[in-house]
Amino acid sequence: MNDLTKKFEEHYGRPAEVFSAAPGRLEILGNHTDYNEGFVLSCAVEQKTRFAAAKAEGRICRVIDFKFESQAEFSLDELNNPAQGEWVNYLKGVYYELNKRGIEPGAVDVAMDSSVPLSAGMSSSAALEVGFCFALKELYGIELDKTDWARVGQGVENDYLGVSTGLLDQFSSIYGQQDALIMSDFRTDEVIKNVPVPHGYVLIVANSMEKHDLVDSEYNVRRQDCEGAAAKLQKLYDSVKTLRDVSMEQLEAAKDELTRLEYLRAKHVVGEDERVIEGDKLLAAGDVEIFGKLLFESHESSRVNFENSTQRLDYLVELAKSIPGCIGARLSGGGFGGISIHLVKEESADEYSSRLSAAFKSQTGDEPQIIKCAIGSGAQVSSL
Ligand code: GLA
Repeated sequence: MNDLTKKFEEHYGRPAEVFSAAPGRLEILGNHTDYNEGFVLSCAVEQKTRFAAAKAEGRICRVIDFKFESQAEFSLDELNNPAQGEWVNYLKGVYYELNKRGIEPGAVDVAMDSSVPLSAGMSSSAALEVGFCFALKELYGIELDKTDWARVGQGVENDYLGVSTGLLDQFSSIYGQQDALIMSDFRTDEVIKNVPVPHGYVLIVANSMEKHDLVDSEYNVRRQDCEGAAAKLQKLYDSVKTLRDVSMEQLEAAKDELTRLEYLRAKHVVGEDERVIEGDKLLAAGDVEIFGKLLFESHESSRVNFENSTQRLDYLVELAKSIPGCIGARLSGGGFGGISIHLVKEESADEYSSRLSAAFKSQTGDEPQIIKCAIGSGAQVSSL
C-alpha cells in the first residue's frame, strides 16, 4: 500500500483495486511537428499524476483530488457537454472517447494526486488522461494497444474539449523511457529509437509563470496555417502529403504561392524536423554542445517564424546565453507562455538556477518556478 491507496481506503472505506501513475513530458526538440506528421525528441519526467481506483456500483463516478483537496462526481449517463474549465472533464472525456469506440466501462471511485505543474507546458492534462485510461484499462480489462490509448487521450483534447493538439503529450507519457529521450515519428506514430541523454548535463525547466489566455485558439490557428500551407504545397509537389515531406529548398521555391503567415509557420515546422534529425545525429556522435545550439535555433524560429514565444520566454532564453553553464535553451510545448527548457552542465546546475531565477525576478517581479528534471519512465498500472 502507498500513501495514495491508503488515502483511498480512508476516504471510501474500502480498499483500492488498482494503482496507476502517468508522467508529464518535456518536448526537447521538434516544436509543432507532431500534427504535421513529423519528428520529435521528447521525454517523460519524474513528476506524475497518480490514481488509486476501484469499480463502483451504479452509474456515478466519484473523484477526490488530494492535490487541491477538491471532489467531484459525474454520471456515466451525462457525458456530453463538458463544463468549461473543470478538471473532471479530462476524466469524463476518457469515458466519452471510449464509448465512441464501443467500449463502455462501468463506474469508478477514484483518489488522485499530481506532482506535474499545471498549465505550464509539461502536459499535466495528458498525465491526467493517461493515468485515468490506465486505471480503467486494468479495472475493466480493456484491450487497446498503447498507441490507441494515447489516441483516446488525444481525443479528449480534440473532440471533447476542442483543442486540436497532436499526439505528442499522451504518446510521451506512455512511451517515455527512464533516463533516455525518445525520438518519435508521428507519421507512423512510432518511437523510432531511444536516445541516451548526454552524460554530465541536466535539464532545467524554468516556468515563465504566464498562461496565455488564447493558448487554445492560437494553437488551433497555427495548426490551420500549417495545414493550409501543406495543401498548397501538395498541389506543387507530388511527393508532399504534409509539411513533413517538404524540404527547405522546396518551401523557399514555393514562397510566392503561400501567404506570409503560411510561409513562416511552415518554415518553423520544416526547420524543426531538420533539427530533430540533425540533433539525433549530434547526440549519437557525442557533439552535445552543437546539439545545444539547435535548441537556441529552435527558440529563435519560434520567436520569429511561428510566433508562439512571449517576452518572458524570450527573456529566459536570452539569460541562458549569458549565464555560464547552459549550452542551449528554448520554449518547450505549445508556447504562448509556459515553460522553457535549459540544457545545463551538471556542475553548474545550482549556480545557474539561482542566477536565472534572480535575474528573471528582478526583470519581471515574479519568481520563476525552476525544476531540475529527472527523466522518468512511461505510465504504469498494477492491480492491488
Ligand atoms: C502541445 C500539444 C502537442 C504538440 C506541442 C507542440 O503540447 O499538445 O501535441 O503539438 O504542443 O509541439
